[in-house]
Amino acid sequence: MHLHRYEKIWLALGAGGLALFIALLCVNAFAMGMAPPSNMEMIDPAQVTQTPPFDNPGLKKVGENEYDAYMTAFAFGFAPGKMEVPLGATVNFHVTSPDVVHGFQIPGTNVNFMVMPGHINSASYTFDKPGEYLILCNEYCGAGHQVMATTITVK
Ligand code: CUA
Repeated sequence: MHLHRYEKIWLALGAGGLALFIALLCVNAFAMGMAPPSNMEMIDPAQVTQTPPFDNPGLKKVGENEYDAYMTAFAFGFAPGKMEVPLGATVNFHVTSPDVVHGFQIPGTNVNFMVMPGHINSASYTFDKPGEYLILCNEYCGAGHQVMATTITVK
């Protein structure tokens, strides 16, 4: 018995498709394993409080009404404690942790990310409405997790 010509073609196509699929899987797994998320930088978690600019957390004016906010999230709080920016300010948050994984969320905005020890994670937001915005930790981080919060006032 011998295979029809069409059967041979279909077999070849099937084998080729499978090989391509496996190759893509390998490429994806490799790429994801090797490349950290694009907006992350690393510092030594044990040296966070000695590493500029996190040794002196706070707001830095970088534009007309634009600020870089260098912050640390730690058990159990945020530094600096309270911040204040003018109405309409764009704030680029750069946050890291010296101890364990925390969350950084500002309800009512799209700012919501994980803070991992030694990773500097960032997000930007333009505060177009005045008021007091809550900054809270939304990753369970220990006994004081519930009280881990601060505010940023916009006026
Ligand atoms: Cu920090 Cu929960």
